[in-house]
Amino acid sequence: MAPNPDQVKVMKQAVAKAAADRVTSGTVVGLGTGSTTVLAIEYLGQRLQGGGLRDIRGVPTSFQASVLAKRYGIPLVTLDDVERLDLAIDGADEVDPAKNLIKGGGAAHTREKVVDSLADQLIIVVDSSKLVQHLGSSFPVPLEILPMALAPVTRAVERLGGTPELRMGVKKDGPVITDQGNFVLDVKFPQIDDPAGLEQTLNNIPGVLENGIFVALADVVLVGEIQGGEPVVRQF
Ligand code: A5P
Repeated sequence: MAPNPDQVKVMKQAVAKAAADRVTSGTVVGLGTGSTTVLAIEYLGQRLQGGGLRDIRGVPTSFQASVLAKRYGIPLVTLDDVERLDLAIDGADEVDPAKNLIKGGGAAHTREKVVDSLADQLIIVVDSSKLVQHLGSSFPVPLEILPMALAPVTRAVERLGGTPELRMGVKKDGPVITDQGNFVLDVKFPQIDDPAGLEQTLNNIPGVLENGIFVALADVVLVGEIQGGEPVVRQF
């Protein structure tokens, strides 16, 4: 039975707290984007305020993460300041058994991939509804694209067998505009048998800045589940 919204919320809270608890003093931490990482950033702020955590610096993956970090007192640095991150905490839209991911439900996957790929350890935080046997089962692959390349990229992904849809704004007429000023094309593929190959093929289309397939980047997946009515966190 699919979890109800209240159960999803407590699962997200449990994994967010578990991930935030793994952050140690003096480290550089990638701050992901999405409703689960919002909670992780909040927990990090609480640990800093409580004095149990000191001297961390955050690298935000989006405007959202940057605003939250400032709200919760997490000092920020950029990739000009640091070469590597000790840890990154990020969400995902789908996770397969090999820890490959689809990300970009919040249109932040381009910066997320840059930051997450520089982390010594990437912790993915999800509720159990995100687990799939094959990527693409429930979620399309988001592509961040240059607005002027919309038509040729659309035709190129159709030739690859995908069904593209320009992501439209909510409470905003017209397309979603990313933090970098670009469009997002959500592409549904029948079945993704070769995530690494598709990731490269999509990024080779001129006009595509980055796609939401993340291969071999996640080190740890924390999954929030409900067992006996209580939230538990499982790791794989
Ligand atoms: C942002 O673009 C995404 O990659 C998110 O990390 C992903 O959509 C997960 O978000 P939720 O935690 O809100 O499900």
